[in-house]
Amino acid sequence: MNTYANARSVQAEQGHYIDLRSDTVSTPVMAMRQAMADAVVGDDVYGDDPTANHLQDRMADMLGKEAGLFVSSGTMSNLIAMLVHCQRGDEIITGRDYHVYCDEAGGASIVGGMIFDPLDPADDGALEASDILAAVKPDDIHCPISRLLCLENTWHGAAIPLDRIKASAAAGRTSGMNIHLDGARFFNAVIALGISPADLAGVADTVSVCLSKGLGAPAGSILCGSEQFIKKALRVRKYLGGGMRQIGILAAAGLYALDHHIDRLPEDHARASDLAQFLSTLPGLSVRTATNMVFLSLATGSAEHLADTLADQGVVITPGGAETRLVMHVNIDDAALDRIKSAFKHWHEKQN
Ligand SMILES: Cc1ncc(COP(=O)(O)O)c(C=O)c1O
Repeated sequence: MNTYANARSVQAEQGHYIDLRSDTVSTPVMAMRQAMADAVVGDDVYGDDPTANHLQDRMADMLGKEAGLFVSSGTMSNLIAMLVHCQRGDEIITGRDYHVYCDEAGGASIVGGMIFDPLDPADDGALEASDILAAVKPDDIHCPISRLLCLENTWHGAAIPLDRIKASAAAGRTSGMNIHLDGARFFNAVIALGISPADLAGVADTVSVCLSKGLGAPAGSILCGSEQFIKKALRVRKYLGGGMRQIGILAAAGLYALDHHIDRLPEDHARASDLAQFLSTLPGLSVRTATNMVFLSLATGSAEHLADTLADQGVVITPGGAETRLVMHVNIDDAALDRIKSAFKHWHEKQN
C-alpha cells in the first residue's frame, strides 16, 4: 500500500489524518463552504457572475493592477499570460527550476510555439540581472525574439527580497521584455517580506495569484494586468476551454480567503519554524524553513521508511530525494502540530 492509501486506513481508524505534502491538499473550512453555498451567481462567460466580478476587481485593486481574471488553476493562469505576451517563436527567459519551465508540461511550447531559455537561479531564487542581460538574444534573424521574463515568488517557499526581484525585472525591461510574475504563493511572499501586495505586484506587468494553496480555497487563480491585457486574456481563456459558467461558487471561496486567510498566513510560517526547531533537536536530521515549508534531509535511514512510519501515525508526507518537504496550511492547527511532532518522535525511537 502506498503511504497515502496507508494513511487513509489510519484515517478510518482515528477519524482523521494530517497531510503535509503541500498546501494544495488543504480542504475548505466550514465557513468558506457556507460562503460558497450562499454565493450569488450568474453565467461568467456572459460576464454576469457578480461574485466573480467582485473577486477579480478586488484582487486587481489589491495588486494595483487595472483588471483581473478568474481562471481554473495556476498553470492555466501562467499559460494564458505567456500566450498573451508572446507570439509563436518568441522566447521566454525564466528560472531552470521555476514552475513555468519545469512543472507545467511545456504548455507554452505545445500550445503557443514559444521556446524557453532557462537560467540557473541564485541561492535566494532570484535571477541575476547580469545573467538575464547575457541571455537576451541580439536583433539577428538567426535568433528568437526574447519577449518575456517569467519570475516566481515565493520560490520553493522562499520569499525573494523585493530589491532582488526588482533588479531582475529592471534587467528584463531594459532589454525590452515584458515581465510576468508567477505568484502561486504571492501572499506568503508579501507577508514574509513585510511589504504591500502592490509593492510586489509592481515589479511585473502581469501577476498570477493562486487561491488554492496557502489561501485554502478549493480551486482558482486570478491573473491580473492592464485592462487591455485582460481583454486579450479573456479570449485566450475561452479558446483553452477555460470559460466556466456559475463560478461565483468558487469566487466566493476566494473572497472568503482574502477576508480571512491572508491574515492567518503568519501562523503557517510560525508553525513551520516551530516544527523545524523541534526537528533540529532530533539527531540525524538537518532542517531548514522557507515561509510555510520545512525541508529536511536525513543523515541516515531512508525517506521512504520515514514516510511509512509517519503514515502509520496518520501523517502523510512525500519522501523527497535530497530533501523532503513538509508544508503547513489552513488545516494544520496547534493540535495537528503536536501530532506531527509525536509521529516524528515515534520514528526517531524506532530508529534507535
Ligand atoms: C510556483 C507555482 N506556480 C504555479 C503552480 C501551478 O498551480 P496549479 O497547480 O493550480 O496549476 C504551482 C503549483 O503548485 C506552483 O507551486
